[in-house]
Amino acid sequence: RRDVGVLAMEVYFPPTCVQQEALEAHDGASKGKYTIGFGQDCMAFCSEVEDVISMGLTAVTSLLEKYNIDPKQIGRLEVGSETVIDKSKSIKTFLMQVFEEHGNTDIEGVDSTNACYGGTAALFNVVNWVESSSWDGRYGLVVCTDSAVYAEGPARPTGGAAAIAMLIGPNAPISFESKFRGSHMSHAYDFYKPDLASEYPVVDGRLSQTCYLMALDTCYRRLCAKYEKFQGKQFSISDADYFVFHSPYNKLVQKSFARLYFIDFLRSASSVDEDAKEKLAPFSALSGDESYSNRDLEKMSQQVAKRLYNEKVQPTTLLPKQVGNMYTASLYAAFASLIHEKHSALGGKRVVMFSYGSGLTSTMFSFRLSEGQHPFSLSNIANLMDISRKLKSRQEVSPEKFVETLRLMEHRYGGKDFVTSKDTSLLPPGTFYLTEVDSLYRRFYSKK
Ligand code: ACO
Repeated sequence: RRDVGVLAMEVYFPPTCVQQEALEAHDGASKGKYTIGFGQDCMAFCSEVEDVISMGLTAVTSLLEKYNIDPKQIGRLEVGSETVIDKSKSIKTFLMQVFEEHGNTDIEGVDSTNACYGGTAALFNVVNWVESSSWDGRYGLVVCTDSAVYAEGPARPTGGAAAIAMLIGPNAPISFESKFRGSHMSHAYDFYKPDLASEYPVVDGRLSQTCYLMALDTCYRRLCAKYEKFQGKQFSISDADYFVFHSPYNKLVQKSFARLYFIDFLRSASSVDEDAKEKLAPFSALSGDESYSNRDLEKMSQQVAKRLYNEKVQPTTLLPKQVGNMYTASLYAAFASLIHEKHSALGGKRVVMFSYGSGLTSTMFSFRLSEGQHPFSLSNIANLMDISRKLKSRQEVSPEKFVETLRLMEHRYGGKDFVTSKDTSLLPPGTFYLTEVDSLYRRFYSKK
């Protein structure tokens, strides 16, 4: 099987959102903290009629319809999510409603969970299935779906919500360069969800940033080592056209790319020009630990990496800045932004992806892109995702209304015996929504 990878993608995010500038003022944060400090523009959130299951249903049915895929043609379905609605029953089983209707219950796979990494784990599983001797010739499907909500406080503006569905098979326009991959997995308490009565995580913000950057370093060095082993030459950021990062907020993405540039400097790679070498020289003797906390290094490396950031990273930032952290969907929404921005110009390009999930698990891997054959072509994927229209047709909600919604959801989380408002006025046609949770906690959905 050649070129196994992503054949098609669909992205869905709730039409309800709050402007970061308005939220900043509402929270009494200093002006510019969320917009410049975090680098975020807007944040989507689920109203009381949406959740990770309804978003997953919407993304899956929309993908199948747009590409005219018979639900019987799906042989494996895996879900990545860290939003726990049930401790036993997988989100995948809820999505089976779409396939059962068409007489297909022969679909392998369940959910993968570890913070924002579950989507990548699900994707690797499905790709491995297509490449394996158990593959039966049908398509695989990966769904990343999350609602990122935080308790009141400094982390709240780094929320978001979305679902992404990806169709997997051979001869894909987005295929894996499976040899060039580096992982780093370790035990950390940077962000976790030990309180089963609450949807909110316990988060050590500072530690989570450091864990993220340390994982990034380790994965990058491993990917470089593998590249050198197989290609017999050094890998540097010049060898990839684009870098896509898991995006909790844009500032961390800026810092991440600057970090790769600094590592290239330490490895004397050709990607670093003379001027940058001079500017980074004073930091070359810092120990690993010191280098994560050195503010001057952070500022200087961001400054010298800026030109390459604009070229190789900026085109991946639209959805993460407009929608917020989408947890498992975040990396793939950043990648979708790249396809939206560059579509057919991406043929022949290499895209390096960095997936991070607190706790912690991380992998850096590489995609090779080709224009592909209709309907599975980059330009058609960009066209059908229709990201500009989806962004434009959103409804901005006041910070007060956002806070009120989160309060209601706190109350509803883990609850039973309620009906929702069934208010679908903001939802586009074809969107699934929650109507009721009965006295046995059974959840019911309808399609607009
Ligand atoms: N104008 C411009 N910039 C400002 C302003 C202002 N008025 N005020 C602050 N800033 C800048 C700060 O200088 C800082 O930028 P810098 O790091 O480049 O210096 C940035 O805004 C953030 O300010 P902090 O004071 O560091 O923010 P705070 O500590 O309040 O919260 C945090 C940030 C820790 C990220 C918090 O939002 C959080 O815990 N989020 C969730 C955890 C998270 O997303 N971690 C990332 C990896 S794990 C994951 O994906 C869940």
